[in-house]
Amino acid sequence: MTRHVVVTAGPTREHVDPVRYLSNESTGRMGFEIARVAAEAGDRVTLVAGPVHLATPPGVRRIDVTSAREMLSATRRAFRRADVLVMAAAVADWRPKRKRSGKWRGKDDGYEVASIDLVRNPDVLATLARRKGKRLVIGFALETGGGLARARRKLVRKNADYIVLNDASALGAGRASATILGRDGSRKRLSRRSKADIARVLLAMPPPR
Ligand code: CTP
Repeated sequence: MTRHVVVTAGPTREHVDPVRYLSNESTGRMGFEIARVAAEAGDRVTLVAGPVHLATPPGVRRIDVTSAREMLSATRRAFRRADVLVMAAAVADWRPKRKRSGKWRGKDDGYEVASIDLVRNPDVLATLARRKGKRLVIGFALETGGGLARARRKLVRKNADYIVLNDASALGAGRASATILGRDGSRKRLSRRSKADIARVLLAMPPPR
């Protein structure tokens, strides 16, 4: 039977006003590569993409979203009838408490210091993995030192089957090293691999028992 794989990719944008937002450096390349490799292998693929400048891989159904909340609702809908979820998106953890309907004109008030109140965004991975049943769920983590223990805690806290631990050099890089941590305590180290290689290994990881 054909597997249905849902992949998320890219950053999210959290708007302050109609023309300004908080976001991050994610290019979306890892997620798009996973979607491409899965479709090539014959999987049915839904790609939920934040704002990125990348072409949709052949045979992939793409849903474009902007904010974390939009990503949650699109991914939730797609995951209902899916077998696998790969959360490669760099979802913003915070959003401005309110989005101004018009352009923010802070300068006009004459202040030299201003602040934006932030509220927590939903955690897409944790929310959807909570009731994942037998479906395979893979998350990513970007750590800068002391990463293994933190990533393991993340794996348990978010109820994922695997977490791919990247180092910061993976951002935008052609080749990257990654460690795949499994719920079963397994650890698989991938050194200086292309994103296509990493995608192939991930998509072949055994499902939960
Ligand atoms: N994630 C998510 N929803 C969020 C934040 C993160 O689904 N609001 C997912 C990401 O897609 C990724 C994993 O959770 O699969 C990353 O978790 P996160 O806690 O954000 O880890 P880091 O990116 O490593 O950041 P931090 O060190 O700040 O925890």
